[in-house]
Amino acid sequence: MIRQNRLVFLLCQLLLCIDFTAAQFTQTTVIPSILPSQCYDYTTITDGSRNVNAVGSTNCDTIFLSGSRWVRFMGDSGTQLSTTPTDPNQCGTQVTGWYSGLMPAVTQTVTNGQVCFSWHSNSCTWSNTISVTNCGSFYVYELSMPPVCAARYCTNTPSILQTTTTTPTTTTSEIYSSQCYSYTTVDEPSRHVNASYIGKQCDKTNSILSTTGWFRFVGSGGTQLPTYALNSNQCSTDAPGWYSGTMPNTPGLTQNGTICFSWEGNSCKWSNSIQVTNCGSYYVYHLSPPATCSLRYCTDTPIVATTTTTTTTTTETTTTTAILSSQCYNYTTIDEESRNTNKPGGSECDQATFAPGPRWVRFTGVGGTEIPTKAVGPNRCGTMATGWYSGAMPTVVDTTSSGSVCFDWDSNSCQWKNDINVTNCDSYYVYELRPSPGCSMRYCTTNTPTAKVSKGVTSISDYIKNLFKKLIS
Ligand SMILES: *[C@@H]1O[C@H](CO)[C@@H](O)[C@H](O)[C@H]1NC(C)=O
Ligand SMILES: *[C@@H]1O[C@H](CO)[C@@H](O)[C@H](O)[C@H]1NC(C)=O
Ligand SMILES: *[C@@H]1O[C@H](CO)[C@@H](O)[C@H](O)[C@H]1NC(C)=O
Ligand SMILES: *[C@@H]1O[C@H](CO)[C@@H](O)[C@H](O)[C@H]1NC(C)=O
Repeated sequence: MIRQNRLVFLLCQLLLCIDFTAAQFTQTTVIPSILPSQCYDYTTITDGSRNVNAVGSTNCDTIFLSGSRWVRFMGDSGTQLSTTPTDPNQCGTQVTGWYSGLMPAVTQTVTNGQVCFSWHSNSCTWSNTISVTNCGSFYVYELSMPPVCAARYCTNTPSILQTTTTTPTTTTSEIYSSQCYSYTTVDEPSRHVNASYIGKQCDKTNSILSTTGWFRFVGSGGTQLPTYALNSNQCSTDAPGWYSGTMPNTPGLTQNGTICFSWEGNSCKWSNSIQVTNCGSYYVYHLSPPATCSLRYCTDTPIVATTTTTTTTTTETTTTTAILSSQCYNYTTIDEESRNTNKPGGSECDQATFAPGPRWVRFTGVGGTEIPTKAVGPNRCGTMATGWYSGAMPTVVDTTSSGSVCFDWDSNSCQWKNDINVTNCDSYYVYELRPSPGCSMRYCTTNTPTAKVSKGVTSISDYIKNLFKKLIS
C-alpha cells in the first residue's frame, strides 16, 4: 500500500497533479494537461428549464442564430444532452432535442452524431449533426440552430460519468449523490476571507444565495467555507459566516453542521444548519438564506490541501466496463405506431426502408420497443406478411445474439426469413436489420418486452450498485 501511494505521489508530481499532502480524499483524477481548446473556451448554460424534468413551453434555441458554438451544460440544467428519446412538450419547449449519436469515451476525443428532435409521436421528426468533446471530467457540445422553432436541446444529469483517460493507471470513475452533479455555482471573489471591507453584503438578498439549494463555490473567492472562527467585517461584509462542524472526509459522504455568523466579538451571534457533501475533488453545500442582513457566507481557499492517496487497487479496470458496443449509441431510431402487433394489416413493406442494409435500429415510442418473439399471424402491423423474431435473445448486457426474423403468411409462420443480429444495450435492444425478402413484409413491434433473465456481471446497474457499496463501506 505504501509503495502504491508513493507511485501515485510520483505520478502526480510528473503530471503536475493538483496536490498531495493530507489524507482527505481517496480518489485520483489526473487529466492530461493539454485538452482541445473548446474544453477551455465554451459558453456555459445552467438554466434548469431545459432539463428533461422541466415542463414544456415555447422557448427556442435562438442563441445559436449567430452561428454554432461550444457549450458546456452545468448546474440546474444538468451536465449532458439527453441520450434517450425525449417526449415533445417538455424542457421549456415544444420540439425536444436529444442526442442519438456515439459519445466520446476517451478524454481529448471528439465524436460527431445526430441530435433528433421529437414531435408528435416521432422521436426523430427533424435532426441535425453536432460534435461532442470529452474534456476529462465533462463534455462540451458544438451546437447550432435547431431545424425548427420552438425547439430546444434538452439536458439531464446522468448518474454515471463515463470518461476514460488515456493513461490506464490513473483512470477513475466516481458516483456520488445527485447534488454533486446538480448544484448552483457561486463565483464571487469578494466572499474571500481576506477581501477588503465593503459592508452591507447580504445573502438574504443575494441574487444566487437567496434561495435554498446546493451550491459549489469556485473561482478566486475560494472553494470552501472557512472552518475557523472569523471576525466582524471580513469577506466584504459586516457579519461573516464560517462553518462550525465536522467536514465529510470521505468521498460520497454528507455531514450536517452549523454555520456561525460573527459579530462584535461573538463568533456565533447567529447560526444556520447546513449540509456539506464531499464530491471527491470538491465540496457542495446545502445552504439557506440567512435570517437577516448583513450576514454573508464566506469562502477561503482550502488550508489543508486535498490529496490524491489511492486506497483501492480496483480503479484501473472499472470505467471501461460501462461503455457498451458502438451500435448501442449509433443506430437509426424508428418510431412508427403502425408497426405494433395490435394494429391492422396493410401494404407497408420493409424492402426499400432498409436498403441497402444492414442497419442497426432501435424501436421507440408507442409502436413498441421490441420485435415480438412469437408469431402474431398475418395481416397486422400495417402489412400482410408479419415479421417476428425466432431465436434466442441476448440476456447479458453488451452481448449480441444471432437469430432469424420469420415472415408469417399463408398458414406458414416462417414462409420467408431474414437472418439478423440483436444486441442487449442494458435498457433497450438494437437490431441489425436488412431489407425484407419481398413485399408486403414488415418487421412488427410490440410493447410487451421479452423477459430479461440474468443480466450477468457486466450490467451497468449492477456496476453502479457495486460502486455504491464500495463507497459506503
Ligand atoms: C489571508 O490573510 C491571512 C492573515 O493576514 C494570511 O495568513 C493568509 O495567507 C491570507 N490568505 C490568502 C489566501 O491570501
Ligand atoms: C441532517 O439534516 C437533514 C436535513 O436537515 C435531516 O433530514 C437529517 O435527519 C439530518 N441528519 C442527522 C444525522 O442529523
Ligand atoms: C455509425 O454507423 C454508421 C453506419 O453503420 C457508420 O458508417 C458510422 O461510421 C458509425 N459512426 C460511428 C461514430 O461509429
Ligand atoms: C452477425 O454478426 C456477425 C459478427 O459481426 C457477422 O459475421 C454476421 O454477418 C452478422 N449477421 C447478420 C445477419 O448481419
